[in-house]
Parts: sequence; structure tokens; C-alpha cells
Amino acid sequence: MLDQTSRPNTKILVDGGDPEETKRVKELIGFVDGQTTNPTLIARNPEIAALVKSGNKLTKEEEDEHYRKIVESISPLVGDAGVSIEVFDDADTTAEQMFAEAQKKFAWIPNAYIKYPCTTEGLKAAKMSVAAGIRVNITLCFSQQQAAAVYAATMGAKEPVYVSPFVGRFDDHGKNGMDIIKNILEMYKAGDGHVKVLAASIRNLEHVLYTFALGSDLCTIPTKVLEEWAAKDFPMPAADYVYPKPAELAAIPYEQVALDQPWESYDLQHELTDAGIKKFVEDYMSTLRPGK
Ligand code: E4P
Repeated sequence: MLDQTSRPNTKILVDGGDPEETKRVKELIGFVDGQTTNPTLIARNPEIAALVKSGNKLTKEEEDEHYRKIVESISPLVGDAGVSIEVFDDADTTAEQMFAEAQKKFAWIPNAYIKYPCTTEGLKAAKMSVAAGIRVNITLCFSQQQAAAVYAATMGAKEPVYVSPFVGRFDDHGKNGMDIIKNILEMYKAGDGHVKVLAASIRNLEHVLYTFALGSDLCTIPTKVLEEWAAKDFPMPAADYVYPKPAELAAIPYEQVALDQPWESYDLQHELTDAGIKKFVEDYMSTLRPGK
């Protein structure tokens, strides 16, 4: 177990869809600050995966019911970083549809954060949500422009707003994903602190250590990486820590982006956001009975 006096300033979330994993991690580390889920992780939940494998695919209502039970089990295990629950979104989903789903899912547990995609419709829904007191986590963020739009769209939020820049998916495409965390943290220094950076798509221990070294507010980590961290006796980055950037990854340069512009004026387009939405739709649909 981690000596509680050595707890990192960065909040630690479990990136997964299985309450048994969250319990295991909690026993291993001694605490879990929060949890993030997404349609891919929910499709991989052992109970859902077993049903699908045995030919018993779900209706939308049954899928929702499983999702609700999963987050209900996780909810009491985690601290104040809450449990992020994702709404359905495809190319045709409107902000109003996402917001209606968010209202329902937010009521499932007392510590929910609703995940919206970093798109125009997603941010419209996020704006409605913060006005209604619904906590939000804006996911699939791949640029400073998108993070600036999140900041501007959620100004005045009474509760922390999360933005989730994805590290590993940039690495997968030959770009240094850790730069996006560094750049957004730097850009947000000019802000009022209402948006918290949640490093996501973490794939290895060096991602974790550099996230801690950068002072990201939160970091969501797959169980196997947390287990590796524990097996190595919870290493922390030294004061002179240097990220061992894989040579093949190209730098993502810092952009000067002002935070005080109307949110609609920022460039929300990103091919990895579009690809991420498509993958989440596919994984969600893979659990459903045809026509349901
Ligand atoms: C969490 O909020 C994200 O959905 C998750 O970290 C994505 O990770 P992946 O890129 O490994 O799928």
C-alpha cells in the first residue's frame, strides 16, 4: 500500500469498467480518487462481455441497466474525483439529446461526472449541464484550441470541470501525446482554474510519472499500469525527472491561444476526436441486439 504521506498531488482515477478491478486497486494502493468509464470499457465489463460472447446481446435499456449497476458499485469505492459516465454520441446526436441522457445518468449516483465529446454539440450540452449543476468531463480532447473552447464554454461553473486530453492515442499516431498535457497546463495558467486537466489514454508508467511531474490535476490509469506502479513500490518522479520520450514521437508545439474568446470561435475539429467517437459507437453497438 502507498504510504499516505507520499500521495501524489495528482488525483488518481481508475480507467475501467469493472468494479472488481476498482476494489483490487483500492486494496493495492489504499485509495482511489475516482474512476472513468467509456463505451469501450463498459463493453469489456466481464458480465457484459460474457453475455455478448454467449449470443445474448442487450437491448439499449438492458445496456443502460448494466451501466447503471456498474457505476453504482464503483461509486462508494472512490473519493472526490467522482465517477465519469459517458453519454451516447454519434455524428447525428444533438446537444439536447446528450443533455437529456446526461440528466438521467447524473441521477444514477451522487458523485457522477458526465462525459461529453469535445465537439460543438458536446460543448453546447456541457454549457447546459453546468448551468443545471451537472458536473462534466469533456473527453476526446486533442488540441489546445479544443481545451480553450472547454474553458470558455464552461465559465462560471460552480463545480470543477474536467477536460480529458488523450495521450496514448497521439503516441499511436507518431506524436508525443505528453506534449498535449504539458501545453494545456501551460495555457491554463492564464485562466481562473475552473477547468481541471485529467490526463487520459495513459498506457505506461512513464506517462504516469511525467503526468505527476507536470502537476496535472488528475490522471486516469488502467489497472495493469497501476499494478505495475504498485509492484515497483510506487516510484515518484525525482525533482529533475526528464520524460524518456520515445525517439519516434514528434513534438507537438505550444500554440499561443487566448482563453477569453467566445467558445464557438475556437477550432473544435480534430480527426482523432472523430475517430474516437466512431470507435465508441462501434463498441457500444457491439453489445446491442440488431435493431435494438
Ligand atoms: C478515459 O477517460 C478515456 O476514455 C480513456 O483513457 C481512453 O484510453 P484509450 O486511448 O487507451 O482507449
